[in-house]
Amino acid sequence: MQKYFPQASRMIYGCMGLGGGWNTQPVAHQDVQQAHRVIEQVLSLDINVFDHADIYTFGKAETVFGRVLKDNPSLRDKLVIQSKCGIRFADESGPKRYDFSAKWIERSVEGILTRLNIEQLDILLLHRPDPLMALEEVANTLARLQQQGKITHVGVSNMHGHQIAYLQSALSTPVVVNQLEMSLACRDWLEDGITTNSKANCSSGYGSGTLEYCLLNNVQVQAWGCLAQGIYTGAKNQNNADAATANLVNQLASDYETSPEAIVLAWLMRHPANIQPVLGSTNLQRIKHCEAAMRVTLSREHWYLLLETARGHEIP
Ligand SMILES: NC(=O)c1ccc[n+]([C@@H]2O[C@H](COP(=O)([O-])OP(=O)(O)OC[C@H]3O[C@@H](n4cnc5c(N)ncnc54)[C@H](OP(=O)(O)O)[C@@H]3O)[C@@H](O)[C@H]2O)c1
Repeated sequence: MQKYFPQASRMIYGCMGLGGGWNTQPVAHQDVQQAHRVIEQVLSLDINVFDHADIYTFGKAETVFGRVLKDNPSLRDKLVIQSKCGIRFADESGPKRYDFSAKWIERSVEGILTRLNIEQLDILLLHRPDPLMALEEVANTLARLQQQGKITHVGVSNMHGHQIAYLQSALSTPVVVNQLEMSLACRDWLEDGITTNSKANCSSGYGSGTLEYCLLNNVQVQAWGCLAQGIYTGAKNQNNADAATANLVNQLASDYETSPEAIVLAWLMRHPANIQPVLGSTNLQRIKHCEAAMRVTLSREHWYLLLETARGHEIP
């Protein structure tokens, strides 16, 4: 990402929690106030990349963000803003579905720009692969949106390497980002490499070789769900391995004189793929605790100890 946006921060703030919840109630004054507080906190920590999607809180996350930008117009040029399209919820026309048609992508981008109160989106991500995608149609649509100055770059989310390569084959612009679920709890991206050449490799829900595809092709990897909903940092544990990992995370936080959140994120960031964590917390203190990961470099031994403890057993 630094290649395209040299000013971009290492961490990203994910805006899914803004907007007052997944309901049809209109945006309230307090939702805008919350967005003001969160954005102020995030910027004070030198995080300037913001992740959106047209669907987050049914568009309200973008709406409150847009209100903040309206109140502070000079802010726009200091930020890198990305959003996603392609997921449609069930409605009178049909069930939940993905839609990469020209009509839907263009309509989504118009909505994103209006809600965010901006003229150009820095990166448009295709949210989840649409099996009915017509390759040329998508390529032409994205090229048109770029020519119109509505989007600058194109990215994807939840795609494996072959899907990106296929899409890339028709695009006149590079895919600059792939956003995947990655955390100490969601480790398929690592297990893919570690368990290769063994039967254990079969259970992965992750497209084999995706990380390597991204590294070889300069596709920035971004990690959603990077805090694993807090299961290692204070939220309720799911099982024994989670509880043991939470204890270890606490111990390491004390050893490294940092926060548990910083240990969980430093584990992701220690990987040479330069993974960008997408922070989803709306808790101001927790956001600060996350940012502390910028100053933690885990030893190889601690990195593997965290991996082994989260897995619940030794690596092969
Ligand atoms: N591309 C995709 O398909 C996709 C999918 C999902 C999300 N995303 C992006 O990634 C971002 C982060 O995703 P995420 O929110 O799923 O991941 P996350 O960062 O793993 O989880 C954040 C959530 O966990 C809660 N949490 C964290 N620590 C906690 C603790 N100790 N106790 C209780 N709750 C705790 C937070 O609540 P508080 O707010 O109270 O801290 C927040 O609701 C989103 O904002 C969005 O931008 C992308």
